Amino acid sequence: MAMAMQAPKDPKSRAGAMLAHLSDPHLPLSGGVPLRAVLNKRLLGLLSWHLKRHRRHRPETLTRLIADLRCQSPDLIAVTGDLTNLGLDSEYRAARTWLEGLGDPRHVMVIPGNHEALIDGAWDRGAASWQPYWQGDEALRTTDVAQAFPVLRRRGPLALIGTSSAIATPLGFASGEMGKAQLDRLAALLRRTRSEGLFRVLMIHHPPLDGTVVARKHLRDGAALRALLQTEGVELVLHGHSHRSHQQSLTTRDGSVPVIGVPSASSMHHEAAAYNLYNIVPTDTGWSVTLTTRRLGEGQKMETGRCVSLTIPRPHAACAS
Ligand SMILES: [Fe+2]
Repeated sequence: MAMAMQAPKDPKSRAGAMLAHLSDPHLPLSGGVPLRAVLNKRLLGLLSWHLKRHRRHRPETLTRLIADLRCQSPDLIAVTGDLTNLGLDSEYRAARTWLEGLGDPRHVMVIPGNHEALIDGAWDRGAASWQPYWQGDEALRTTDVAQAFPVLRRRGPLALIGTSSAIATPLGFASGEMGKAQLDRLAALLRRTRSEGLFRVLMIHHPPLDGTVVARKHLRDGAALRALLQTEGVELVLHGHSHRSHQQSLTTRDGSVPVIGVPSASSMHHEAAAYNLYNIVPTDTGWSVTLTTRRLGEGQKMETGRCVSLTIPRPHAACAS
């Protein structure tokens, strides 16, 4: 599964940046699972994996996608969670190996999904093994992973902002929550990066718009997040979780913002496995964004799905030059 990835180009070496987005790879559950580790909500997840999910999330599908992604040489790769299934320590270790195959931590940024936090404490335990892949540019000021998000990476014209909506929920639920403290920190971060004239990309596992997923899987404080984004602005929101593609929008102080979800990178169940590529180029009046979807098509061959051009007018972009 692991493969060496050619070091991507430095985004600062050109005017724009190429950002790839994939989500929900749900890497194969392999090896023994200790009984004591699954005497909880994980038991249903384990049954689900053996009864159906192992047939949906296929490593060979994911391998084809990643091989295609390598050929695009993106500057940055954003992974919006659900690398695991039960949030087991062994899955975190396997996912770390997979991330290393995907690329150097400087060029790959991951955030947690609900499966990483399937039971209380799972994400707290697992986060350390992925830290180089989720932490921001600045050293962490806390050892409490719940206080660590949002994180920020500045890359050329981009401000890549990683958030955590991963929380443990009761049986039958897969909802998420950012919490007031994280939302307050996010507001400050969006304000700061706006004043720097950066193209702000928000990474979140759960879709922020109502109705994208059923209520038991939704973002509990989605209304608060939307209100915050409307007040502070953002240029692009990327999410996963639904295992389907979405292209929606949100109106903010700065104008319309694309809110875009990708299907699972390893499954052909709901729709073809896919990832998105964003070519983000500064213009005189903001940014031009070309979104290209690469998906697994007939005959197991990768093909281009949609290719759309988005214009993101932003007066504050002028601050960047
Ligand atoms: Fe999810």
